[in-house]
Amino acid sequence: MECQMLTREQNDLLTQTGPGTLMGNLFRRYWIPVLLSEELPERECPPARVKLLSERLIAFRDTKGRLGLIDEFCAHRGVSLWFGRNEEGGLRCSYHGWKYDVNGHCLDVPSEPAESGYCKKIKLKSYPCAERGGIVWAYMGPPQQQPPLPAFEWTTVPATHRYISKRWQECNYLQAMEGGIDSSHVSFLHGGELHTDPLHRGTKGAQYQRDLSPKFEVVESLGGLCVGARRNAEEGHYYWRITQWIMPCYTMVPPYGDNALNAHAWVPRDDENCFTWTFTYHPTRPLSEMEFDTMRGGGGTHVKLIPGTFRPIINKDNDYMIDRVAQKGGRTYSGVSGIAMQDASVQESMGPIQDRTKENLVSTDNAIIMARHRLRKAAFDLQKGKQPPGLDPECHRVRSASFVLPVGVPFEKARSDAFKTKEGVPHTSI
Ligand code: FES
Ligand SMILES: [Fe+2]
Repeated sequence: MECQMLTREQNDLLTQTGPGTLMGNLFRRYWIPVLLSEELPERECPPARVKLLSERLIAFRDTKGRLGLIDEFCAHRGVSLWFGRNEEGGLRCSYHGWKYDVNGHCLDVPSEPAESGYCKKIKLKSYPCAERGGIVWAYMGPPQQQPPLPAFEWTTVPATHRYISKRWQECNYLQAMEGGIDSSHVSFLHGGELHTDPLHRGTKGAQYQRDLSPKFEVVESLGGLCVGARRNAEEGHYYWRITQWIMPCYTMVPPYGDNALNAHAWVPRDDENCFTWTFTYHPTRPLSEMEFDTMRGGGGTHVKLIPGTFRPIINKDNDYMIDRVAQKGGRTYSGVSGIAMQDASVQESMGPIQDRTKENLVSTDNAIIMARHRLRKAAFDLQKGKQPPGLDPECHRVRSASFVLPVGVPFEKARSDAFKTKEGVPHTSI
């Protein structure tokens, strides 16, 4: 296999998303999930700090229910507006009372005579927000390029059919997202949970994953990649698991039995931290109490968080509570408990930003190589004025899938029906 190792410059390009960087410019062309709606539960509720693409911002819901995402720091002398008073149509700095509306316009500078019009000259940076699917989304790009709102299936199913969580992950978004693209690790890292987790065990898919050397076939989709991994099934058949990767930072996990679908967004907070969002949703039925209970308790692909924060209880400060006895006894493969923290532990262990000049890629890394290539190409194309892929909501209306096909049948042609969202039609899964 040809060497696909990245140079230092290529790695920097892919991992840096601050203002003015090539990848930062690319991310700023998409709507990005920022907050759970419940983080801003009502009008005039306390504001929320947001760090996104290395920018420090404040989100708030004003008296009329409008959402604002503005510069965190007051234009007067730089105090954080997180301390602000959310009142009467704006956020008022708690130091000297300057007040801002959801668009960042200064409404009041109490120390100056109103007739001076001084406050009209003051404006904080602000970004448009929208609420969809229990999520607050933001758009940080050029106003004239704002795309339509995202149409991922988890945003369109009834609230009873979904469960959404997010967790702080202490590493760059790319190494986290690459874990979502690479489904070859499931048979190893999550091998124990396939047979113990209530949302995985007992499915055909869990059994087929005993084949430890899947073969990958990757095809380009409208908005990203459709990643097929095949393993041996019954005589003359392959078990296929199809992961969708959608620009710039979404992955959809292949499903197990009638369990709900799972998808992730890997959102850069800064270059060394990201938020891992997990969207669990069933196209045709409400999630059961058992399912909700399991997920709230940190099962499936969710985690238990330190109350009042988005940091997992299992984290790098306690060595992920690794259980060497469970590891040795084979109860879990790595000794870390739970699918999500198994992923986070190995990904954070690479360091805040993985040094990709040192890796040795193999054939199961094909999809990762292609995703990196597509991201880089989109970033350079954007520089030349070309619109990035994945902006059209049609690109979001896709599903992951799992199924068995006779050997020799190309998965993307045989089961193309399985990859589109269809209202009222269940997903394809065994
Ligand atoms: S620093 Fe905000 S009003 Fe003075
Ligand atoms: Fe994983």
